[in-house]
Amino acid sequence: MSETPIVYVTREIPEVGLERLRERYEVVVWDEKLPPEKSHIETRLAELDAEGLVCLLSDDIDADVLAASPDLEAVCTFSVGYDHIDLAAAAERGIAVGHTPGVLTETTADLAWALLMTCARRTVEGHDYVEAGEWGTWGPRLLTGPDVHGATLGVVGLGNIGTAVARRAAGFEMDVLYTARSRKPEREGELAEFGVDASYVERDDLLAESDFVSLHVPLTAETAGLIGEDELRRMPDEAVLVNTSRGEVVDTDALDSALDEGWITRAGLDVTDPEPLPADHPIMRHAPERLVVTPHVGSASIGTRNRMAEMIAENLTAGIDGEPLPNSALRDAGLE
Ligand code: GLV
Repeated sequence: MSETPIVYVTREIPEVGLERLRERYEVVVWDEKLPPEKSHIETRLAELDAEGLVCLLSDDIDADVLAASPDLEAVCTFSVGYDHIDLAAAAERGIAVGHTPGVLTETTADLAWALLMTCARRTVEGHDYVEAGEWGTWGPRLLTGPDVHGATLGVVGLGNIGTAVARRAAGFEMDVLYTARSRKPEREGELAEFGVDASYVERDDLLAESDFVSLHVPLTAETAGLIGEDELRRMPDEAVLVNTSRGEVVDTDALDSALDEGWITRAGLDVTDPEPLPADHPIMRHAPERLVVTPHVGSASIGTRNRMAEMIAENLTAGIDGEPLPNSALRDAGLE
């Protein structure tokens, strides 16, 4: 083991985070555009006797990766989600796991709204129309869509991001419904301070009554495939579905059928299954008229990404020093 602990970073995170890490560690960064293979991460961790690993949500950090370096003290993911990390294996090996909650809440809520507005007001189609030289005159029937103001917003999962999405509905004078594992009076109170009267309803009622449904649940065994054929058929034909959570929460084939057969009118996805979504994936035939897709950029504001990089350094330093992590995924998952 070298005297300066070694940290392996699976992609170039913002410089501010790398600088902070370099102050204390020897930092080895995978600087390719595409991610390293899982076997490569394992090999590098073992070769380097790495004490720290910084990973992304697209890296599969399973028990083999966690066992690759006997000196591994801390794994920090550049994401709030940690469904790509085997937390139980990490806990068993005594490896600290850090993530970046909180900081990206508002930024991700902004993106959910960007998709919602895009789907309602057809801005991507409008842009394509102008670019294609089709804008010959003002059109009374051109690119009409549903009103956002005064509509009903259904929020599935009233955690931090879901609450931030619901809060934004105040400016649009929307009715807000939410569903979660149980009623959340504290969140309702928080929203009431902003003039949002959020009503707790069963999921089926939310789907049947909402004009816009926005998904904000973590990916777990319980939420995988949460929105499938039955759920999509329950939604009004004019409804819009927005997903900024995890791709696997929506059954892609069922969504394809829903868009084909008009069970809903449009979907805006920042996360997909599979992810990345190939341009020639069958569901892309609905774009842009019925489908708008962004490449998992929910947290991608400059300020938020910089802050996430700093949080990575703070978490990793605590983990390598054997201190409690400021943002521990194990703690947040109830494993610590
Ligand atoms: C993004 O999806 C994240 O988990 O940070």
